[in-house]
Amino acid sequence: MENHPSLNRYDNKVPYVSCGKSGLVLPRISLGLWHNFGDVDDFDEAVKMIQYAFDNGITHFDLANNYGPPEGSAEETFGKILKKQFPNYRDEMIISTKAGHRMWSGPYGDGGSRKYLISSLNQSLKRLKLDYVDIFYSHRYDPNTPLEETMNALSDMVKQGKALYVGISKYPVDKAVEAYSILKANGTPCLIHQDRYSMLSRTIENGILATAEKHGVGFIGFSPLYQGVISDKYLHGIPENSRAAKPSGFLQRNQISPEILEKVTALNAIALRRGQSLAQMALMWCLRTAHVTSVIVGTSSQRQLQDNIDALHYPGLSDEEIATIDTILQQP
Ligand SMILES: NC(=O)c1ccc[n+]([C@@H]2O[C@H](COP(=O)([O-])OP(=O)(O)OC[C@H]3O[C@@H](n4cnc5c(N)ncnc54)[C@H](OP(=O)(O)O)[C@@H]3O)[C@@H](O)[C@H]2O)c1
Repeated sequence: MENHPSLNRYDNKVPYVSCGKSGLVLPRISLGLWHNFGDVDDFDEAVKMIQYAFDNGITHFDLANNYGPPEGSAEETFGKILKKQFPNYRDEMIISTKAGHRMWSGPYGDGGSRKYLISSLNQSLKRLKLDYVDIFYSHRYDPNTPLEETMNALSDMVKQGKALYVGISKYPVDKAVEAYSILKANGTPCLIHQDRYSMLSRTIENGILATAEKHGVGFIGFSPLYQGVISDKYLHGIPENSRAAKPSGFLQRNQISPEILEKVTALNAIALRRGQSLAQMALMWCLRTAHVTSVIVGTSSQRQLQDNIDALHYPGLSDEEIATIDTILQQP
């Protein structure tokens, strides 16, 4: 049975902003399927999260060939949900996928070669049961492949109708500038730059963000909660079922150090004073600058997704709060 999304899904629940200088708008919060949508995860909860997201105005879903585990299974899960629950809503969704990290054995299942990128997108489309994706990314910079080769492969995917736009992820500033220029010359400008961004990972503030803006490229931040560490979840130990406790989770227990927890505790006190959850305040902090088009959250339950979307309805952070947060973050 097809799901019927709520008729008022676009009524001020999630704001949309232009992605760089393109005509495409994106929701300020997007949903990522890196964790929690693989074969090892709860399929019913996955269905609930996609439904809740779409019902509340989240139009952008971020995937990659290797999301799971096992690799590829998040695309399969999403493909199944789309086909069954949303057969008539494809044109209301922005679906992205990527290739760049190791996906299959042998020399052609990793990196930035034309061989890998094109084969991988063809495989992704089969798993997603789609004719095209909206955004196809080079998932990471590959120093062993000429940049022209990687960028030309992306451009050709657009020209063949297999992707509507292209993006790059985790590129150093100098290579990003070169990539923007090649893609522009090819007539397929870079839509979006994706990189890590949170209160505990601010490297993009040293160049990537300003450079993307200067070139009219949108910026989308991933892991805005530092994989869940910037929430109240780990303040009293590592809960069962949390990402740090799961064998398939990328978050290692040693990333939750006493120094990090001290900062998170201080940040949590500010969030409590504001009457919101720390996760909500962390998302608002990432979105405090208009240069950040969107942040991609990963959630393990519909309740978390609801909490995150609700963040958009709180008053913005004051200059004083931002300064206090900076002081906490600068502590060694
Ligand atoms: N381009 C790249 O290389 C790259 C790399 C990484 C990620 N990404 C993209 O970014 C997306 C998001 O990454 P991420 O999953 O690391 O993001 P994240 O939002 O920083 O972390 C997600 C985790 O935070 C916890 N969480 C979420 N909402 C919460 C809430 N309201 N309260 C308490 N805890 C909450 C959950 O942890 P528990 O599971 O413990 O409940 C959830 O699994 C990925 O799905 C992917 O699409 C891209």
